[in-house]
This record gives sequence, C-alpha cells and structure tokens, in this order.
Amino acid sequence: MADRKNDHIRICQTQNVESNAELFAKMNFVPEALPELHFSEINTKQEFFGQTFDLPILITAMTGGVEKGQEINETLALAAEKFNIPMGLGSQKMMIKEPKFKKLFDIRKTAPKLFIIGNLGAVSLNYGISLEDIQRLVDDLELNAFALHLNALQECIQPEGERNFANLLQKIEIIAKTLPVPLLIKEVGSGLSPSTFQKLVNAGVSGIDVGGKGGTSWGYIEGLRANKEGERLGDLFRNWGLPTDESLIACAKVKKDFQYNVPLVATGGMRNGLHVAKAVAVGATMVGVGLPLFRAAVSPLKGETPLESVERELSFFKKSLSITMFCSGAKMLSDLSSRIVRESL
Ligand SMILES: Cc1cc2nc3c(=O)[nH]c(=O)nc-3n(C[C@H](O)[C@H](O)[C@H](O)COP(=O)(O)O)c2cc1C
Repeated sequence: MADRKNDHIRICQTQNVESNAELFAKMNFVPEALPELHFSEINTKQEFFGQTFDLPILITAMTGGVEKGQEINETLALAAEKFNIPMGLGSQKMMIKEPKFKKLFDIRKTAPKLFIIGNLGAVSLNYGISLEDIQRLVDDLELNAFALHLNALQECIQPEGERNFANLLQKIEIIAKTLPVPLLIKEVGSGLSPSTFQKLVNAGVSGIDVGGKGGTSWGYIEGLRANKEGERLGDLFRNWGLPTDESLIACAKVKKDFQYNVPLVATGGMRNGLHVAKAVAVGATMVGVGLPLFRAAVSPLKGETPLESVERELSFFKKSLSITMFCSGAKMLSDLSSRIVRESL
C-alpha cells in the first residue's frame, strides 16, 4: 500500500491530473460600486459541525500512508490551525492494518486545537473494516469528525481496486447512528447525484461533500499507475461525472425543498476565493481544497518553507474571497446568495 501512496504523491506532484470543467462559468456576482462598508468589516466566519471557523474552507483529505505523508500532514495541520479551518486526513487504512503507522497521522500534538477529520474508503466496510476500527481511530487520533469516501471509479481503474460496493448504504447508516462524532460522506471527483444525496441524508449522515468533477481526477491518476489497458481506461474516464458546481446546485435544491439540516461541502477544482464565494452563494457550507495545498506543501517556491508556501496559498484564498465579498457588497457569507446572478447551467 505504501508503494501506491508514493505513486499518488509523485503523480500529483509532477503531472497534470485534473479533469475538465469550467466551474461556475455561468455565474457572476453583481459588482457593487458602493459597498458602504470598510474592507475590515468583511466577515468570513462559518459554522460547521458545531464549531465556528474563520473561513468556509477545509483542507480536504489527502494522503498520509507514507513517511513523506507525515511531513505533509504536519505542515497542513500547522497551517490549518493558524487559519482556524478544519483539516481532513488521508485514508487511515494502513494504520488499522499496522498500528505502527499511527505516527503518520498523529497530528494532534502538532496542532492541539485543530478540528481533524479522519478518513477511510466506505468500500473498506466490505473488506473487514468495522465500526470498532473507526471508533478506535477516533479515540487514538483524537478526531473531531470522520469521513468515509466514495470512490467507485478509482477502485475500478486501480489495479488492486476493491470493487464490492454492495450493501454499503446500510453499513453507512449503522455508523452514522452509532459514531459519537459527525460522519461526513465524500465523493472524490465524480460528484453526487441528488438521489444519492437524499439516500445518504435519510441514512442519518451528518454532512455531505459532493466531491465533483473539475479538480483532481482519481480515475486518471490510477490509469497512470496501471498497465496499458488501465491507462486507456483512465484516459476514457478522466472527465467522468457531475461537475462540482452542478452537483452542488442540484443537491442544494433538494436540501432546500426537503428542509434537510445537513451541511454541504463542495470539493473538486476549487482554486480561489471566487470559487469559494460562488459555492457558498449557491449552498455550500464549506469548500474543500486539495491539490493546490498539496502542491504548496511538497513543492514550495525557492526560498520558502513548505509551511510558508501553504500559508501563502491559503492567504490567496482568503484575500480573493474577501475581495469578492467586498466588491459585491456582501458583509457576511450569508449575504452572498442575494448577490449572485446565474445564467442557466
Ligand atoms: C495527494 C492526494 C491524496 C488524496 N488522498 C485521499 C484520501 O486518502 N481520501 C480521500 O477521501 N480523498 C483523498 N484525496 C481526494 C481529495 O480529498 C479531494 O476529494 C480531491 O483531490 C478533489 O479536490 P481537489 O480538486 O481540490 O484536489 C486525495 C487528493 C490528493 C491530491
């Protein structure tokens, strides 16, 4: 498994791994020439899973199952704590199999106040991972929430993929009802349809990340690690799925129609504060950011430490979000929805 994680790190660091989607291209904010605000009044605070964060941004789950992953996790943890935003850890499957790998994920000492979200593939529930294993991870790593990821496409193209996705909803329901911390379900790049969103809400999960197309493409990445046939499959399915904006808008509509009280997270291709503002305007509580922060951590600019590099990237998100709010006259995040103009998607 360490080889696979090393491949992921190398490929994500050095190659173009994104799918194509012009996210939110048909949506714009109405510019406000007279914001009647001081820039310092812009308030980007957001509530998520019972806590207040300084930005509606979370560092999404990224790899941790190799020595290099420990360094990356520690860098991301320090930055997340400084910006007062939550952070997801990459899959902890390795740690369940071999407890000596705990150190790769154990960022609580590095960031004592950080809101940390654990992670496993939901499909692992069909391959021997139990509720007790998840509970142990929550205790051992002092996690604040737990995420199960849905990655059917990745498992199909991954040479060593686990493809038995039967009866997972029922297992997710049991975990959602038993785990003492919030359970987040996240797609990893194919997007969630509104009907699947609804099934998950009815199963009692605490939050849903639509994880759409437009950012890191896991089908494509696995193709790059596979044989010739896998490579063809990876190319074919690189742009599979619902774009993040479409998935978010469709799920937000269902959420509103049925008055569901679950936070929506939008991850996949979110690359600046304008994306964040648009996602929040159409219904996201939080926006997940992966690849740009991963790259900042592993390939800092000359003269920068990895931490400075990640902080620079997060500052860019923060500034561009604040500028978007100021220049559209939105003092609070909740003002954004009334400032956006949509053409039909
Ligand atoms: C290097 C790397 C490793 C990842 N590992 C995981 C993982 O272990 N579990 C998971 O749920 N998602 C994982 N992801 C997927 C991200 O959480 C996210 O869903 C995806 O990268 C889309 O966001 P982005 O376009 O901002 O990168 C990983 C992403 C990257 C870049």
